[in-house]
Amino acid sequence: MTFRDDALAGRTAYITGGSSGICYGIAEHFVRHGARVAIQGRNAEKLAGAAMRLGALGYGADVRDYEATAASIGEASAAMGGIDILVCGAAGNFPVAATAMSPNGFKAVMDIDLLGTFHTCRAAYEHLRKPGGCVISISANHGTRPYAMQAHVCAAKAGVELLSKTLAVEWGGAGIRVNVIAPGPVDGTEGMRRLAPTEEDRARVAARVPLGRFAEIGEIADAAVFLASPAASYITGVVLQVDGGSQFGDGRI
Ligand code: COA
Repeated sequence: MTFRDDALAGRTAYITGGSSGICYGIAEHFVRHGARVAIQGRNAEKLAGAAMRLGALGYGADVRDYEATAASIGEASAAMGGIDILVCGAAGNFPVAATAMSPNGFKAVMDIDLLGTFHTCRAAYEHLRKPGGCVISISANHGTRPYAMQAHVCAAKAGVELLSKTLAVEWGGAGIRVNVIAPGPVDGTEGMRRLAPTEEDRARVAARVPLGRFAEIGEIADAAVFLASPAASYITGVVLQVDGGSQFGDGRI
């Protein structure tokens, strides 16, 4: 652990996609650093297990459903006494060439990643602490560079990044910071299981990362603790690449 144990003491956090993967790791780190946490997920069974393990509040809602998401955020806010930290992490992915992608496949990812992030931010605004609240949305290297077979995710993540920067401008006056974490390949996630299912794929992906390896989920969660903590009190509107340098590929000419 790289931060003081009490870095988030007394803070409350609402995390979409918190049942598994990166956002479960973020929830775990937030709890460990003293925060009270609520998670939102659309798979009731996964959500219940995760909430129990975390000692968190759990809300079953799909981020594509604005009304359900707003109701969940409202309930969590009432139960926790407002929201200090909002993490927008619900995401979907599958690899497919643009020419083989159905319009509905493209839409599914846009709706979860981009519209879902807007829904979550829009619904949470009234509950976010002012001043002092913060938003962290989870993007990926896909937000800044293209990847074959990922047209839907690249379009959605680029949108998440500029949406977040726009909210940073609009909400700065209320004392709310809005930032983005853009991971590269992260071990132990559903995304990497889908994108690099074999050992051969994993070796190929790791070889293109300047640091030569995948991230651990905890390394992404540490960045989230930093952005949520008072140590980042003057940071807003940034995309923090936590990617081992993988935004540059292997950097070779
Ligand atoms: N290849 C091509 N198209 C695919 C696909 C794949 N592997 N998986 C889904 N699709 C298409 C479907 O065919 C459908 O389009 P159609 O109606 O034209 O046939 C569309 O995407 C929606 O699929 P559906 O399964 O109905 O959506 P869903 O809402 O149940 O699931 C997904 C959303 C597609 C993103 C699903 O992959 C998912 O639930 N992912 C969550 C976990 C995840 O992706 N984690 C990684 C995060 S980085």
